[in-house]
Amino acid sequence: MKVLVTGGAGFIGSNFVRYLLKSRRDLELFNFDKLTYAGNPESLADVAQDPRYHFVRGDIADQQAVDQIFERGFNAIVHFAAETHVDRSIEDASPFLKTNILGTHGLLEAARRFPAMRFIHISTDEVYGSVPAGVSFTEEATLNPRSPYAASKASAEHLVTAYANTYGVPVVILRCTNNFGPFQFPEKLIPLMIANAREDKAVPIYGDGLQERDWLFVEDHCRAITLALDKAKPGSVYNVSSGVPQPNLKIVRTILQHLGKPESLMQYVQDRPGHDRRYALDSSKIRRELGWAPMVRFEEGLHRTTEWYQANAMWLDHTRSGEYRKYYDRHYTRRSETFRI
Ligand code: NAD
Ligand code: DAU
Repeated sequence: MKVLVTGGAGFIGSNFVRYLLKSRRDLELFNFDKLTYAGNPESLADVAQDPRYHFVRGDIADQQAVDQIFERGFNAIVHFAAETHVDRSIEDASPFLKTNILGTHGLLEAARRFPAMRFIHISTDEVYGSVPAGVSFTEEATLNPRSPYAASKASAEHLVTAYANTYGVPVVILRCTNNFGPFQFPEKLIPLMIANAREDKAVPIYGDGLQERDWLFVEDHCRAITLALDKAKPGSVYNVSSGVPQPNLKIVRTILQHLGKPESLMQYVQDRPGHDRRYALDSSKIRRELGWAPMVRFEEGLHRTTEWYQANAMWLDHTRSGEYRKYYDRHYTRRSETFRI
């Protein structure tokens, strides 16, 4: 099986690349990634020498580069590449529109011309907007994106659906809730809290900290994507979630406890503009149709994550200092095994 992954040097992408290489023998995997600030080749240092793995640096918004990679012919595409941080989208939406909308469009254009068996589009629960207390949205809920990031992801989804409808591109859309686990860039809540607390720095809580997120351990998401690759019918949309929304304050307190740090590090700061209060998804469809269920309980996942960041302080320090960019030069640019198109 020949698979093209976009955005494989990011958090979920790198976990997925590792997961697929481990779980499949007969596999050739191409990772097409622009290496923005969020793309870190150090996250895949352990598989960089695997002959089944190929890294190609490129921008999904560059149609020529996208066409060139598609010319290689793939059985499946798994599309993660995106600008992903809500706060950054509030500061400046333009890179979000370019990558998330135009970049997705470029991939769909290529997928039309170089057909594959599956185009898995990695979407997000944020396309639904905030969910009222006591409710979990199913796949039938109306899309109501409320941040520039969410709007760009919802726009991408509409294009994906349009290309399925109009040109028969065999797409599957996965809408997952907040992921956590190893290799997440320390701008997102959990790794940021761990990174700051380790250094006895304040951990910033937006607003009252009672916003809820339906956290899922990243490995469980990777398993859902693999099931979708193998079994999902083209045209399907699936929610992926643990189904157990939790308030931010509880998460932060648990992290501080794990690290043996005082709650006095918690610092309430101004809320995120337009902050979605609550995300919660009903994932019974993927459980019923594809036989998926989360395997890692939240507490266990959080414990594993905190331990991982403590054991991989160098990864964290390199990420925070930008040192990982030098890794790219050392390991790819000047090496003969660098794969270039
Ligand atoms: P991330 O920010 O950690 O990584 C994004 C990756 O995409 C990076 O490697 C980056 O270099 C690459 N990229 C960005 N722009 C690119 C471009 N123009 N061309 C090629 N590569 C580019 O993201 P993540 O958190 O791993 O999220 C991956 C996907 O999953 C995204 O589509 C996101 O919307 C979705 N998602 C994320 C979560 C979450 O909790 N993190 C939850 C649900 C869905
Ligand atoms: O729900 C899926 C989405 O989850 C993905 O599509 C996004 O790519 C991903 O970034 C994430 O979005 P969130 O905005 O929910 O994640 P973030 O980690 O930024 O914030 C989680 C919650 O924590 C949210 O309520 C805001 C709050 N928060 C966040 C940060 C960074 C704080 O209170 N303090 C902080 O410093």
